[in-house]
Amino acid sequence: MPPSPLGCRLAPLGIFLAICLIGQSPAAEQTGPPRAAVASAHPAATRAGIDILAAGGNAFDAAVAVGAALAVVEPYSSGLGGGGFWLLHRAADARTLMIDARERAPLAAHRAMYLDDQGQFVPERALDGPLAAGIPGLPAALTHLSTRYGRLPLGTTLAPAIALARDGFAVDRVYRDYAAFRRDTLRASPAAAAQFLVDGEPPPPGHLLRQPDLAATLDALAREGQAGFYAGPIAERLVTAVRAGGGIWTADDLRDYQAIERAPISGTYRGWHLVSAAPPSSGGVLLIAMLNMLDTLDAAALTGTERTHALVEVMRRAYRDRARSLGDPDQTAVPVEQLTHPLYAAGLIRDFDPRRATPSRLADLDCAPWTERRPADQIPPPESHHTTHFSILDRDGNRVAATLSINYPFGSGFVAPGTGVLLNDEMDDFSAQPGVPNVYGLVGGEANAIAPGRRMLSSMSPTFLESEQGIAILGTPGGSRIITMVLQSVLAVTEGAPVTDWVTRPRIHHQFLPDRIQFEPDALSAADQAALAAKGHRLEPLQRPFGNMQAIFWDRAHGRVQAASDPRGIGSAWVE
Ligand code: DON
Repeated sequence: MPPSPLGCRLAPLGIFLAICLIGQSPAAEQTGPPRAAVASAHPAATRAGIDILAAGGNAFDAAVAVGAALAVVEPYSSGLGGGGFWLLHRAADARTLMIDARERAPLAAHRAMYLDDQGQFVPERALDGPLAAGIPGLPAALTHLSTRYGRLPLGTTLAPAIALARDGFAVDRVYRDYAAFRRDTLRASPAAAAQFLVDGEPPPPGHLLRQPDLAATLDALAREGQAGFYAGPIAERLVTAVRAGGGIWTADDLRDYQAIERAPISGTYRGWHLVSAAPPSSGGVLLIAMLNMLDTLDAAALTGTERTHALVEVMRRAYRDRARSLGDPDQTAVPVEQLTHPLYAAGLIRDFDPRRATPSRLADLDCAPWTERRPADQIPPPESHHTTHFSILDRDGNRVAATLSINYPFGSGFVAPGTGVLLNDEMDDFSAQPGVPNVYGLVGGEANAIAPGRRMLSSMSPTFLESEQGIAILGTPGGSRIITMVLQSVLAVTEGAPVTDWVTRPRIHHQFLPDRIQFEPDALSAADQAALAAKGHRLEPLQRPFGNMQAIFWDRAHGRVQAASDPRGIGSAWVE
């Protein structure tokens, strides 16, 4: 019997017990780790974290320093004009929580804002220029983290970033690649071109890039806290420039912005307790759903093609639910308990056929067939290093996993003059029209439609894992592939693989639509590819590697700490 196409039946419903969303750690808190560790996507940011720990800061202070430093040295990835999710664990009271500093849609946003007169979606409007920008969350996260959880003043923890912005940093190859990719968009904003290009071109390698306006904005944040960014002269400049450039921000948008503390998503897999990002990220929900399905299939016993087939079928089903049900939990009813329940997962994977792929069909979203978002001849971004992740562990056992973004490389490419702040283009993470893919090929519907003040659905998945063997802290950029990358690293953790394996293993990906297995150059042998094709899978070999995982392992069983930075990137990991 042919497998039933996904999406043509409603998933089984039932009574779902509330899962434990608040993270008291399963094991009682023990003594702290023998060493501290920092892993980030840029050596200058890792250095900032090390220096703040050495100055007596805790992991949360170090996280402020690393997050702010990345905003300066990786402007293509994250920044004060962006947002992100911060997973924290405080050892003193064994409390685990998430700071949601996701961007919000401006209050004047509406669902037709990226459509032309014929009602067709115009992708560039959601990616380039200030109309593409959500209200930033990173400055609120930095001040929230510092005042609620840090030991040191913001003036101390922001000092490394201020110095990097004022005195400059040496331009590296990743910067140059992304600046070349977004050159024309940056040129359209005179303040962005002045800040990030030299004579309209990417700066030469080693060029000392100074950002004095950004240094002044960071300094205002250090002196005045949240009001230094969201009110007063910087907020005024932001709103004026955005509106002059065709955007719709108001002073109220900035004044109202708050970082929100949320209970993360948690679950268990093969003796490991997993904690990850809650909505408006889809990461935690999908990770638990996929692990529950893998458990049902007893996938840990599978190898080779059978394992890949099981992984793909699990990914397919989880991303179907992402498209259908996930969005901002403050504006839509997200069925978290249902989606993360083992019984639900068992129902989802019931039609798994070990011999055949299950075709992806999205029958319950009112949408056109999935079509390629960008013309095939458009050059894709160099690697998925836009968006960033870092992991931190201090000697008390406090820990942070943070994934931060301005979305597409160099975000919207727009800088408000006199602020040094490069605005995000996170609005493209909304579903601009039902079933019309965003830049990562993701579709969605009502749950993630554009609405005033709404947070757009994300894939960012900062994650902790804990068992008697130890504690893992990890995450990566990579757009829609973030969640499947984290899944594959989680499997490596639970298999007892070393931390270097978590960040290096070749990766595969499936996201329901398009109905293809995407894979890194070395991920599938020719024989694997043939065997998967014989099951009915469509294969899309990718020319370049993807992801930039930053991981730490506190190996409690052996009393040691290890850290690793993905060799696909230019980051660095440090263990004290
Ligand atoms: O929040 C999200 O899911 C996206 N804006 C993340 C973008 C990303 O990871 C790009 N990286 N390659």
